[in-house]
Amino acid sequence: MIDMQHVCKYYSMGDELIKAMDDVNISIKEHEYVAIVGPSGSGKSTLMHTIGCLDMADKGQYFLDGMDVTLCTGGELANIRSKKIGFVFQQFYLLPQMTAFENVEMPLLYQHMNSRERKRRVIEALKCVGLEERMHHRPDQLSGGQQQRVAIARALVLRPPVILADEPTGNLDSRSGEEIMELLEGLHEQGSTVLIITHSEQIAERADRRLRVSDGRVTEDAV
Ligand SMILES: Nc1ncnc2c1ncn2[C@@H]1O[C@H](COP(=O)(O)OP(=O)(O)OP(=O)(O)O)[C@@H](O)[C@H]1O
Ligand SMILES: [Mg+2]
Repeated sequence: MIDMQHVCKYYSMGDELIKAMDDVNISIKEHEYVAIVGPSGSGKSTLMHTIGCLDMADKGQYFLDGMDVTLCTGGELANIRSKKIGFVFQQFYLLPQMTAFENVEMPLLYQHMNSRERKRRVIEALKCVGLEERMHHRPDQLSGGQQQRVAIARALVLRPPVILADEPTGNLDSRSGEEIMELLEGLHEQGSTVLIITHSEQIAERADRRLRVSDGRVTEDAV
C-alpha cells in the first residue's frame, strides 16, 4: 500500500544542503505494524510527512495504494490525506478553545455530512478511546494522556486505513504512554496499518517490523 522508490528530500540552509531523505526505498503492506526508529535529526518526521502526503518528495516515486503521489496536485493530496491517513503527533495539536467533541468533529466538517451523522461518528470515535464522558471538556481541562486520546479519536473519525503516529508517547508519563500504545495496537488488531515513529527501543520492539533511519537513509529493515 505504501511504496517508495529512491525518494529524496533536501533542505537548503544557506550554503548547506541537508539530505533529510536520501534514496529511501520502502514498501509497507496493508495491516502492517511498523516502527520507524532513529536518532534525532535522522529524518523520521520527514519520512512520515512524506508518507502522509503532508510534504512532497524532491526526487523518486511514491505510490500510495497504487497511485503516484508525486504527480498529484495540492488539492488531490488533501483529498488523499483525509481519506487514507490519520495523524497523531507528539504535541497533540488540539484546538485549545474547542471541546473534545468539537476537536474530533473538525475533520468531518470538510466532508459532506449532516450534523446527526457527524455527532454519531464523533461519539463513536470518543467511545473508542474511552472519553465519551469528557466530550465537553476543553484540552486544558484534560490530562496529557486524555488529550492524546482526543487526538487519536480525531485521527480515527474518518476511518482511515493508515495511522501515522510521530512520537505519540513523547510528552506522556509511562502509564499514559502505555495506554496510548495499547490503543494504537488495538487499532492495528482491528485492521489498520499503523506506523509509529519513536526513539524508544522498547516501543520499537513492540512493532512487527522496524525500519531504522540514519542520516536520511533506511539502514535496517527488520522483523
Ligand atoms: N523545514 C525544514 N527546513 C530545513 N531543514 C529541515 C526542515 N525540516 C527538517 N529539516 C532537517 O532535516 C533533517 C531531518 O529532520 P527530521 O525532523 O525529519 O528528523 P527526526 O528524525 O524527526 O528528528 P527528531 O527525532 O528530533 O524529531 C534534520 O537535519 C533537520 O534539521
Ligand atoms: Mg521528528
